[in-house]
Amino acid sequence: MLRRFVVVCSRATASDEFVLDDLPGTSGRLDVGLRCVRAALLVSHGLRRDAIAYLLLGGGPRAPRVLRFAGSGVRFLRPDERSLAVLAKKALASRADEGASGFVDVRPGVAVARGGLGAICADMGPAVARYVLEESGPDLRQDPGLAVGDVAFFLGDHAGFEEDTRAHLTVLGARPIGIGPVAVHADDAVAIVSNELDRRKPAGGTP
Ligand SMILES: C[S@@+](CC[C@H](N)C(=O)[O-])C[C@H]1O[C@@H](n2cnc3c(N)ncnc32)[C@H](O)[C@@H]1O
Repeated sequence: MLRRFVVVCSRATASDEFVLDDLPGTSGRLDVGLRCVRAALLVSHGLRRDAIAYLLLGGGPRAPRVLRFAGSGVRFLRPDERSLAVLAKKALASRADEGASGFVDVRPGVAVARGGLGAICADMGPAVARYVLEESGPDLRQDPGLAVGDVAFFLGDHAGFEEDTRAHLTVLGARPIGIGPVAVHADDAVAIVSNELDRRKPAGGTP
């Protein structure tokens, strides 16, 4: 069973033109997405091989573009934001996705694609249960069907979803789900969902 997290970073830069020493100020808040990558893929002293994080990048001249980090293939992923930003910068500098269809590997476990939600859903395939994380959604803990098969969770960045994105997610069949009454940071939302899935995993399952 694969768990996927899609972070819609509406203004985050889809190019490598940002300054590592001022990531939040120069990248359209790519830092928010990168913290979600850490929360989705890294555990203490290990990697979640069954997790994939997608960052949909909607800012700058090369947008829309998607960065995909797959726990099954990624190597040397470090938890600090700067190292993740260096990795993202190298991946976004690539032109391999121009003229290509779908995701193109640019580093072990890291791929890039042109496009937005459509490209992500095509990559996931149709047999994935889709959820959209939103504060007003039905409580995740009350959903007995969750995590029975492959799942994908869509979440917003610090600014939440733009209206057209939210509407598109409805068309894509993403069901609202909430993780509690308080709006938390996006990476904390990923951690909470991951924890819930961990608790439901059959005993003996490894990250
Ligand atoms: C920092 S929050 C966005 C806050 C933003 N001001 C808004 O109104 O949506 C980032 C994302 O995390 C998810 N999230 C945060 N708290 C949540 C909650 N209690 N239940 C479900 N999703 C949540 C949502 O997908 C949200 O778009």
